[in-house]
Amino acid sequence: MNVTILAIESSCDDTSAAVIRNGQVLSNCVAGQEAHRLYGGVVPEVASRAHQANIVPVVDLALKKADVAAEDISAVAFTRGPGLLGSLLVGASFAKGFALSRNLPLIEVNHMQAHVLAHFAETPHPRFPFLCLTVSGGHTQIVLVRDFLDMEIIGKTLDDAAGEAFDKSGKLLGLGYPAGPLIDKLAREGHPVFPFPEPSIPGLDFSFSGLKTSILYFLRGKVAENPAFIEQNLNDICASIQHSIVTILLKKLRKAARQRGIRDIAIAGGVSANSGLRQALEEMGGREGWTTHIPRFEFCTDNAGMIGVTAYYKYLAGEFCGQDAVPYARQ
Ligand code: KG4
Ligand code: ZN
Repeated sequence: MNVTILAIESSCDDTSAAVIRNGQVLSNCVAGQEAHRLYGGVVPEVASRAHQANIVPVVDLALKKADVAAEDISAVAFTRGPGLLGSLLVGASFAKGFALSRNLPLIEVNHMQAHVLAHFAETPHPRFPFLCLTVSGGHTQIVLVRDFLDMEIIGKTLDDAAGEAFDKSGKLLGLGYPAGPLIDKLAREGHPVFPFPEPSIPGLDFSFSGLKTSILYFLRGKVAENPAFIEQNLNDICASIQHSIVTILLKKLRKAARQRGIRDIAIAGGVSANSGLRQALEEMGGREGWTTHIPRFEFCTDNAGMIGVTAYYKYLAGEFCGQDAVPYARQ
């Protein structure tokens, strides 16, 4: 019998719906929200209103693209958290309504677990146990993945997430939101000639707030000497910021891999779309003897495909939730 899951993701500023059959992603549709660019960041109230406007057309599109009728759906999955409460509520309410009206089982999914399991949307799959560096706008984690539904966070950020480090640095440079993809693009034409100090955090945890402060003071000093400094050196500044963030991330990932003796290494989350990180991971993997796993771009940033893949494994494990499952903002 086919297991066909309709999955909804609405944790931040992307409204996404996907149809997954027997673990295979048949469709994965995302409606982004341009409005936040005007404000230089995600505005929660604007996000939840946009989710309300987008959710029905995005679900319709996902069903059409998958060539699946609503009657063929076996279960409905939604992101329960972490994320923005007002945004999560829209996806959760839609999923509950859809499930209730058709008498279907509901599956709640943790967004960060789904970023990790996005690796199972494609082949070859990582082999258990593997390590996954999950880097997004809200989280930075090293996750020890023992099985589909058995994960342990062994390292995390103590302050800003890696995506925030990109976005906040970009703000200092006058770049739009989200700055991560822009810094990535500009860095390709530059060189990391400006060194920023690395934090000395013990263990497997990360910190990015010091980097942000040193970038701020560096730019202030340079602009005081030459008001056109940022404009004249934008590519090199971006390459330097990216190099620093990637170095901080990969040094801790290497430490974790050596400590645990694990050689299947994956990256996930929005920042895993970064070309500097992808390339540096491949290089480090070559030196360390790792098998590296890098998702396709579609599965790096927020998408319902990864929610559906996770839900499929929860379905097989019989992990369903009730209509009373409420969203949560924090992990
Ligand atoms: O996983 P995601 O789509 O949403 C969250 O769950 O937060 O991650 C969004 C983050 C943003 O901070 C964005 O700037 C960053 O991912 N990002 C990138 C790139 N593409 C997205 N950062 C660096 N380089 C990129 N190419
Ligand atoms: Zn995410």
